[in-house]
Amino acid sequence: MTDLGAPSNRGNRLLRALMRLPVDMTPVWLMRQAGRYLPEYRALRAAAGSFLAMCQTPELACEVTLQPVRRFPLDAAILFSDILTVPDAMGLGLSFVEGEGPRFERPIRDPHDVARLRAPDPTVGLRYVLDTVSRVRRELAGLCPLIGFSGSPWTLATYMVEGQASDDFRRVKGLLFSDPATLTALLAVLTEAVTAYLNAQIEAGAQAVMIFDTWGGSLAAHHFLRYSRDPMARIVDGLSRRRDGASVPVVVFTKGGGCWLPALVETGCDAVGIDWMTSLAAARAATGDRVALQGNLDPMALYAPPERLAAEVRAVLADFGEGPGHVFNLGHGVRPDVDPEQVGLCIDTVHAPSARPYP
Ligand code: CP3
Repeated sequence: MTDLGAPSNRGNRLLRALMRLPVDMTPVWLMRQAGRYLPEYRALRAAAGSFLAMCQTPELACEVTLQPVRRFPLDAAILFSDILTVPDAMGLGLSFVEGEGPRFERPIRDPHDVARLRAPDPTVGLRYVLDTVSRVRRELAGLCPLIGFSGSPWTLATYMVEGQASDDFRRVKGLLFSDPATLTALLAVLTEAVTAYLNAQIEAGAQAVMIFDTWGGSLAAHHFLRYSRDPMARIVDGLSRRRDGASVPVVVFTKGGGCWLPALVETGCDAVGIDWMTSLAAARAATGDRVALQGNLDPMALYAPPERLAAEVRAVLADFGEGPGHVFNLGHGVRPDVDPEQVGLCIDTVHAPSARPYP
């Protein structure tokens, strides 16, 4: 495949690795690489007034997307937005309560609420996200690729039914057991919404897309397949995987999904995100090298003494071993009180000549 360019720079390392092609060094980006741990983010957020205002203003969302890419030699930018903009565009009324996380003003409470839901036209209700995507692409000017994203239908459904974050998923699992037809209808409309949304991001310029299935790991194995994996497989099947002659790789990340990796490969994705509870060597064996792997440093390692952090980063690289198909990342997002110096050290350690995956 020649459409991904020479194997040697920040502009194409990530896309090559996601397609399991050789690279000069392991590409690295970090979930939540833009965020509160960066002083320049906090300054912009204070000026904007709120996180949501920042997401909804393409100029600001673009600036925040670029902040970590300017500061560090990251191999990708990820769109600055949130997974919950989709249910917001469906009329649920999203807000973020300081210190408490997301809230929906009109959560899903009964089958009538589900029957009334429609997949939003992303070019209308999520126009601001698409405008951010095209703006970021323009400003990046090929420096590194831009990753678009969405939540998985199951993960979006958990917030829509609970109305906020939950530790036991009592309401959404209550629905699963008492009225599976209504849950299935909710997941169907979300599958349609997410497919259209990701295709619109690709159309606007996203060069890879990632589906965040943050709460898939809360499900029993057979429920995971039916209520989380299957909807994601339908999405992957409905995506435009090529644009402007280039492949647009798809990453699927189920947090806590380490024991279901073969089932995740069956979604048809190009890469699977791995959390820190699963070893990359075991993940490679389980997926039979059919997909690329993205991960999986314990986010808490960013609080370790520098030498120990570097050793943990090298351990992740060694765990994957030789050959193409590794994108370095954390097993989950950067926390708000991490020292940016530690993030820099992590990235430099991945890129160090001694860490090169090919002799
Ligand atoms: O990774 C990135 O840098 C891209 C931006 C991004 C954000 N949220 C920005 C954000 C992405 C990809 C997300 C995805 C997201 N949002 C997920 C899936 C991934 C994951 O983290 O598990 C989930 C579950 C959400 C929902 C959400 N958004 C929660 C629970 C919270 C509150 C928690 C918190 O940190 O306060 C958010 C807010 C949020 N999303 C922030 C950021 C930078 C913090 C906003 C702020 O206070 O400035």
